[in-house]
Amino acid sequence: MAKHLITGGAGFIGSHLADLLINNGESVTIIDNLSTGRFTNVAHLERNERFKCIIDNVSNEHLTEEMIRGADYVYHLAASVGVRLVIERPTEAIINNVMGTEIVLRNACRYRKPILIISTSEVYGKSRERVFSEDADCVMGPTSRSRWGYATSKAIDEFLALAYFQEKQLQTVVVRLFNTVGPRQTGHYGMVIPTLVRQALLNQPLTVFGDGTQSRCFAHVWDVVPMLVDLLGRPDTAGLVFNLGTQEEVSIKRLAERIIELSGSKSTITYVPYKEAYPPGFEDMERRVPDLSRLKRFTGYEPKHQLDDILRDVIRHLQEKVPQQDAVAIGA
Ligand SMILES: NC(=O)c1ccc[n+]([C@@H]2O[C@H](COP(=O)([O-])OP(=O)(O)OC[C@H]3O[C@@H](n4cnc5c(N)ncnc54)[C@H](O)[C@@H]3O)[C@@H](O)[C@H]2O)c1
Repeated sequence: MAKHLITGGAGFIGSHLADLLINNGESVTIIDNLSTGRFTNVAHLERNERFKCIIDNVSNEHLTEEMIRGADYVYHLAASVGVRLVIERPTEAIINNVMGTEIVLRNACRYRKPILIISTSEVYGKSRERVFSEDADCVMGPTSRSRWGYATSKAIDEFLALAYFQEKQLQTVVVRLFNTVGPRQTGHYGMVIPTLVRQALLNQPLTVFGDGTQSRCFAHVWDVVPMLVDLLGRPDTAGLVFNLGTQEEVSIKRLAERIIELSGSKSTITYVPYKEAYPPGFEDMERRVPDLSRLKRFTGYEPKHQLDDILRDVIRHLQEKVPQQDAVAIGA
């Protein structure tokens, strides 16, 4: 039985990773400061003797060091997540992402523990490539636009992880997640699918930014977390970066329409200009499609869930949370 440490383990993705590892018979410790995560995400694991939950900050270095020393594998997911959080609280978010990763990597190196660093497709920035390959250029916007602080903080995390591999032969692997969705994700920080599903369930207008022609590829969290386990447990992935997501592309307009259809909602769609939704100068990416060939070569990855599966799961999950008198019934 291996011992796994998950930073950010009470978050959306971290809690699903904890579920998977516990179901595999492993031992899991999580550390989470509940800044965006919720204890309810892992409450069902609390009675399991192979699960331990510590509510604290990875910046509490003494504690983080002890936890890493006691683990066989480290998954570093704790971060200030998403562009909106970085725009609203840039100092806190940048410091959290860069310093937290530095502490975790330094201690993983001290005790020679294999570590997986979670990054994001945001690091491709304004690149206009048709598909994004791991070794392609990252095209950042200016530092005067705080929007780029998230991508840049994650890019620094990547540089640091790869530097530890190159200089100190620490077994590090970097995973760039594209949009990941599923039960437990909240819309509080601007995540598009939970936000639109909640609006649909309340029969409110679905707010689509811009003209809705921008597209994204959404992966189910249940396709994503097994790949994290697969990529960390092996020496041949050390020092490499992997894209992880799907290539099923959908425009945000079509996404909103599909959510209305699948939820049986009476909602309509409202288009909100970017200048009303974000500070002046905000730039959104038209498309973001991952090249998955490296991931497939190493793992044989084939996502099992299509977009409709994801939407049905999120609708079902959020329906339990939306007040019953306001909710609509799930459609076909
Ligand atoms: N969800 C996506 O689509 C997506 C896409 C790209 C990258 N990511 C990355 O995946 C990781 C997990 O994101 P998520 O979607 O599950 O979001 P999340 O907000 O649910 O998870 C992040 C967790 O980290 C915790 N946390 C933050 N700072 C911490 C600190 N200093 N100490 C302890 N805990 C801390 C939060 O409380 C939260 O539980 C993040 O690193 C994020 O950047 C997510």
